[in-house]
Amino acid sequence: MSLTPIGEPRQKITVATLREKKQRHEPITCLTSYDFASARLVDEAGIDMVLVGDSLAMTMLGHENTLSITVDEMLHHVKAVRRGVKHALLVADMPYGSYQVDAQEGLRNATRFVKEGGAEVVKVEGGEKRVDLVRRLVEAEIPVAGHIGLTPQSVNLMGGYKVQGKSLAGVEQLIRDAVALDRAGVACLYLEGIPREAAALVTAEVSAPTIGIGAGPGCDGQVLVFHDLLNLTFGPTAKFVRRYGDVAAEITNAVQAYRADVLSRKFPSDAESYHLPKETQGALETVLERKRAMRR
Ligand code: KIV
Repeated sequence: MSLTPIGEPRQKITVATLREKKQRHEPITCLTSYDFASARLVDEAGIDMVLVGDSLAMTMLGHENTLSITVDEMLHHVKAVRRGVKHALLVADMPYGSYQVDAQEGLRNATRFVKEGGAEVVKVEGGEKRVDLVRRLVEAEIPVAGHIGLTPQSVNLMGGYKVQGKSLAGVEQLIRDAVALDRAGVACLYLEGIPREAAALVTAEVSAPTIGIGAGPGCDGQVLVFHDLLNLTFGPTAKFVRRYGDVAAEITNAVQAYRADVLSRKFPSDAESYHLPKETQGALETVLERKRAMRR
């Protein structure tokens, strides 16, 4: 396995790179990102895929679930992330309602993510029922990521965010969904919230690389939500989340220190202030002196 050390020059990641990594059993890394600054940091840290997930409805916009976010709102974020990403493969989530009506509308909206947002892959949730849509998108030269298992856009149908595929019938359905999407030509397949055994079976069954979240270590790659990774979630997280940093604590400390410095007049200092040029200062003093003399 060859890993590019952090900080070294990198190749552009494409959908072909993902397949090569699967064949070489080299883990694929993916993180969500929703704005220019975080996208730039994620890209520069060497992550393979940046996903502008519709999870931004919750993490960035404070909604209760992902259902209300629109294509235009998603595009606003995809464009910002596009400006921050150079090497990673840019995947954009198609929001709820943008592809469920029919494949024609799905194609029209997916085209916007590519043309206006600069996305290289679009992601849609759902298994067998998305085969027609996936074929239409691939025919239109748009790489597609599938997403099966716990699909957050089905939250109302599932009755909450529940691990999927726990029964034998559930595992068999997952495999049918994965194989159908694979045959339809998905570039990769996100597996969310399923038992690790089921994810490993799916991964062995399909040629498309699988990217897991809450799907155990047997996937070809892993994805986490940026805000979960960094403790920016304001509440309990799912079992599969591992925190790699505490940005909430960093931000709170910095903001409190700033507030205290303003209140105690320690900020800004003289070095943090602009100064008049000497000649302006001299002229100003003369004017002020004249005014004082007139008042006397
Ligand atoms: O929206 C999102 O962040 C996602 C990932 C959790 C896969 O779909």
